Amino acid sequence: MSRSVLVTGGNRGIGLAIARAFADAGDKVAITYRSGEPPADLVALGVLAVRCDITDAEQVEQAYKEVEAAHGNVEVLVANAGITRDQLLMRMSEEDFTTVLDTNLTGTFRVVKRANRGMLRARKGRVVLISSVVGLLGQAGQANYAASKAGLVGFARSLARELGSRNITFNVVAPGFVDTDMTRALTDEQREGIVAQVPLARYAQPEEIAAAVRFLASDDAAYITGAVIPVDGGLGMGH
Ligand SMILES: NC(=O)c1ccc[n+]([C@@H]2O[C@H](COP(=O)([O-])OP(=O)(O)OC[C@H]3O[C@@H](n4cnc5c(N)ncnc54)[C@H](OP(=O)(O)O)[C@@H]3O)[C@@H](O)[C@H]2O)c1
Repeated sequence: MSRSVLVTGGNRGIGLAIARAFADAGDKVAITYRSGEPPADLVALGVLAVRCDITDAEQVEQAYKEVEAAHGNVEVLVANAGITRDQLLMRMSEEDFTTVLDTNLTGTFRVVKRANRGMLRARKGRVVLISSVVGLLGQAGQANYAASKAGLVGFARSLARELGSRNITFNVVAPGFVDTDMTRALTDEQREGIVAQVPLARYAQPEEIAAAVRFLASDDAAYITGAVIPVDGGLGMGH
């Protein structure tokens, strides 16, 4: 299999592990990165890195043009890029809320809508959205983030219904707590508190999220759409 795969936010953390997993399997992989330089080992693997901020529709369009010129239409899209801006409601500014929504939910809308063009033409496609256990369980101090991640579920399920007859699947992976920069920003006390709630009593490694994403994009998952797959060490107990 050598499909055209696009992973947003593929320069670090979970997105990087996902990009590596597809590249190792022989797919033609492109990543978007917003800042810095893409990891040299990924570029050495032949992965195409395109600069793109998903809050900017022009940059999304430009990124797709570059990817399509190099790899053809995107056949597998992994919408992974996301941010947190944690704050208790009392202190959460409207900007804290809208920035997170604009990146995590509307940014995902932008990249999915653009990918859909080629997928409709090809009458096939796989879309995997990276949500979070927090979108399903809620989390104090993360109302903006949880709302954005819960929104992805309704978004994916609506598109699963809208485009299922075109052989395009839309699924969601809901990771628990994963060892990346995002969670390294937490205090030791917060990290210990989280592990205490996880039945498997540890953080996930990014590769464990990548494995679920690869499965949803594989032929073995051809009849799965509109699903939310938790990869959370049991934290959400299947939710
Ligand atoms: N870590 C966890 O415990 C956890 C749990 C559940 C779900 N998730 C979700 O998994 C995804 C990846 O998380 P992570 O832990 O790997 O986070 P991370 O290490 O903070 O990486 C986030 C990635 O998203 C990119 N990004 C952020 N805003 C962007 C924008 N406006 N345009 C384009 N790219 C943007 C970042 O680019 P830059 O390098 O330029 O900043 C980076 O590549 C996120 O959607 C996150 O919500 C994470």
